[in-house]
Amino acid sequence: MEGYHRSVLLKETVDALVIKEGRWYLDLTLGDAGHSIEIISRGGKVVGIDVDPQALSRAQKRFKDLEVAEDKYKLILGNFRDLKNLIQSAFAKASADKQTELRQKFAGAIFDLGVSSLQLESPERGFSFGKSGPLDMRMDPSLNVEASDLVNSLTRKELYELFAKMGEEKYSWAVAGALVLAREVSPITNTLEFAEIVERVVGGRGRKIFAGKVSAGKHPATRVFQALRIAVNDELNALKEGLSSALDLIEKDGRIAVISFHSLEDRIVKNTFKAWETAGTGQVLTKKPVVPNDAEVAENSKSRSAKMRVFKRL
Ligand SMILES: C[S@@+](CC[C@H](N)C(=O)[O-])C[C@H]1O[C@@H](n2cnc3c(N)ncnc32)[C@H](O)[C@@H]1O
Repeated sequence: MEGYHRSVLLKETVDALVIKEGRWYLDLTLGDAGHSIEIISRGGKVVGIDVDPQALSRAQKRFKDLEVAEDKYKLILGNFRDLKNLIQSAFAKASADKQTELRQKFAGAIFDLGVSSLQLESPERGFSFGKSGPLDMRMDPSLNVEASDLVNSLTRKELYELFAKMGEEKYSWAVAGALVLAREVSPITNTLEFAEIVERVVGGRGRKIFAGKVSAGKHPATRVFQALRIAVNDELNALKEGLSSALDLIEKDGRIAVISFHSLEDRIVKNTFKAWETAGTGQVLTKKPVVPNDAEVAENSKSRSAKMRVFKRL
């Protein structure tokens, strides 16, 4: 497992999918394939999708190293918002036998949202406020707009709205003002430079003080980084579109499990599942979201904000 993304809620998610021997499952956020490998080890097969070509090659290598039989998985590069097209073109290229097998509806799907450790820890990808790198944040390197383009071109009001809506940042107006002032001197293109400007504004204000001590809590730039990442990758719209396509591709009794890491995503998942249930499409299996237990949080602090919800198609 050394060096790979630590899969969150691994057992809980794959348990929730109730894997059927020999059936195909959609892993829509392949990453380092932790969930896919667990699905395969329980007898399922996986179509794994990721928008990041690096994720795909790492997953491919991991499958090879683990000697996973090639007929147990198929990897596809693309955004899950284009799920139906991606599956259709995969069919077109597959052998006749595999086409028939894949054309049957899928037995389940998993979304494990957000970024992988690989992405977060690679300074050149620009996701981390703790590492110096270009202010990029694209999961899909073929996208045209990077985070620095937004930071240097949006108006103060647009930046304010972005940080307030997508980051739920209380000090958005002040942060936007500081960025506009700073970029008049020179464009903001580096993660640390960006984080420092935000920190100067949010600083102690965003941190809770207990008994005279500032809590370790989140880094003051966390919310603003989150907002920019969501905007660059259009994550919330992609999620809505991906969920709707997944529902159409899942067979009766098939389950969709979604792990989210912040309230905006979780709200979309919760409301979408509720709307599906009301429309008579199926049943929400998680009245309350499943969260990692204390042992998992102690082992992997990045799991602390995870919430999993599961829907069963009827
Ligand atoms: C948290 S990681 C998944 C980790 C994986 N479950 C594991 O156990 O190794 C999320 C992955 O989803 C990918 N991703 C995020 N949004 C996507 C989208 N809209 N379409 C396809 N892949 C996406 C990211 O590139 C990243 O590799």
